[in-house]
Amino acid sequence: MGRETALPLTFLARMAALLDEEFVPFMAALNQTPVPAIRINTLKISVADFAACSPWPLTPIPWCEQGFFLDRKANAGTHPFHDAGLYYIQDPSTMAVATLLAPQPGQRVLDLCASPGGKTTHMANFLAGQGVLVANDIDRSRAEVLRRTLERWGTRNAVVLNESPERLAARWPGAFDRVLVDAPCSGEGMFRKNDDARTYWSEAHVQGCALRQTGILDSAAQLVRPGGRLAYATCTFAPEENEGVIWRFLQSHPDFELVEPRWLSGFAAGRPDWVAWPAAGEPSDAPALSPPAELASTVRLWPHLAQAEGHFIAILQRTGDETPFLWQPASATDLSKADRQAVDTFWEPLIDLPLPQRLTLHTRDEHTAELLALTDDAPDTSGLRTVRPGWHLGTLRKGRFEPSHALAVALTSDQVANRLDEPAGSELVARYLRGETLPVDGPAGWLLVTVAGFPLGWGKRVGSTIKNHYPRGLRWG
Ligand SMILES: C[S@@+](CC[C@H](N)C(=O)[O-])C[C@H]1O[C@@H](n2cnc3c(N)ncnc32)[C@H](O)[C@@H]1O
Repeated sequence: MGRETALPLTFLARMAALLDEEFVPFMAALNQTPVPAIRINTLKISVADFAACSPWPLTPIPWCEQGFFLDRKANAGTHPFHDAGLYYIQDPSTMAVATLLAPQPGQRVLDLCASPGGKTTHMANFLAGQGVLVANDIDRSRAEVLRRTLERWGTRNAVVLNESPERLAARWPGAFDRVLVDAPCSGEGMFRKNDDARTYWSEAHVQGCALRQTGILDSAAQLVRPGGRLAYATCTFAPEENEGVIWRFLQSHPDFELVEPRWLSGFAAGRPDWVAWPAAGEPSDAPALSPPAELASTVRLWPHLAQAEGHFIAILQRTGDETPFLWQPASATDLSKADRQAVDTFWEPLIDLPLPQRLTLHTRDEHTAELLALTDDAPDTSGLRTVRPGWHLGTLRKGRFEPSHALAVALTSDQVANRLDEPAGSELVARYLRGETLPVDGPAGWLLVTVAGFPLGWGKRVGSTIKNHYPRGLRWG
């Protein structure tokens, strides 16, 4: 596969020095086209049921039970099952991170650098709807992408924030059972897919990334409860950003230790022998240290050793007294009688699921407010840049309730009384996803459009046509 931008020469020289005789197979792998892969959304469908209706042959990924390699010809990005959120198209290597961090249902989980949300959605599946998933990204527009990803995924227990790690650490010290730092990095592991990563790469960028990663990890450490776990991941090969960052972290955080990972097929050990101390950025007269052997308990994925892009993962456990931090829960709002009536008028005849008890209203203007459901343990996010404090159910506009897309795709079709169901290849499905009005008779009012039984979005029937409420930003071009 030829890419337009050549690999940086200094990068090649560094890798040749590190990899020695493995350099030739490494380069051969860098010149191959990556194999596409998907991860099944077990919030919506079991792996076995997906396999039974899969449009493509599925080849298991050894380090992710819900992950599968696809044929290169598979049209996974343009299939309606993608719009229904049945799977996430994801680099196979990145699926290893949540596998190793393994959040448990009911836990408080924080994804600190989360957008576009691949690993967040994977962790949502581990939580299986129980507990709280706080997903954060410092970049405002990327935090919006993250919100959309989590909505399509059908998560009901996610809180989406657009904050700095420092402010979160000050707000919720020791609050989380699991924290993930999928750090911004020099992206060498993406060189096979992404010309931009090749263009931006320089040795100075690698050193700058390592410093930034250290800062983010310092905040992340404060957010983990004693006994809780912190995952650090990058998609680069550079030892400075991987073993080097973890070594520096262990020196400044004696209350953390590396967890021995499950050694799954395709995983290679971290390389203590590739880092030195003092590292760049430390005073050069600092005493020289030998790297600790336990850095080999970090995981590397290599394109020449697994069908994967480059990835690095470290799982760290915080030691100490396991006293949980009690955070301030988000407070629910009592709806006015008129608002409650508007919601009930939509909900009661159509939705076979009790209206969530803890609700909050987010006022947009004088006539418009968004209605959100809060999980029992949702944290109070007032004062933080909050993109979504809970599950968006819909919008109250001038005394009427309009259901949201996030509600449609987090329901199951048997929870909605009025539906239009079509098979995946149906022209009506394509027309719906393009945003067209559908000429289909039936009972008037709101209905859920589903593909093979899986929700795609809302429509509203007037006479013998269904008005299309599929969000404009998601429509097929
Ligand atoms: C490697 S990407 C994350 C990919 C994501 N975890 C996934 O699996 O889809 C790194 C993200 O970190 C964000 N980021 C950069 N600096 C950050 C910081 N100081 N705090 C939080 N997020 C940050 C970037 O905006 C970017 O979205």
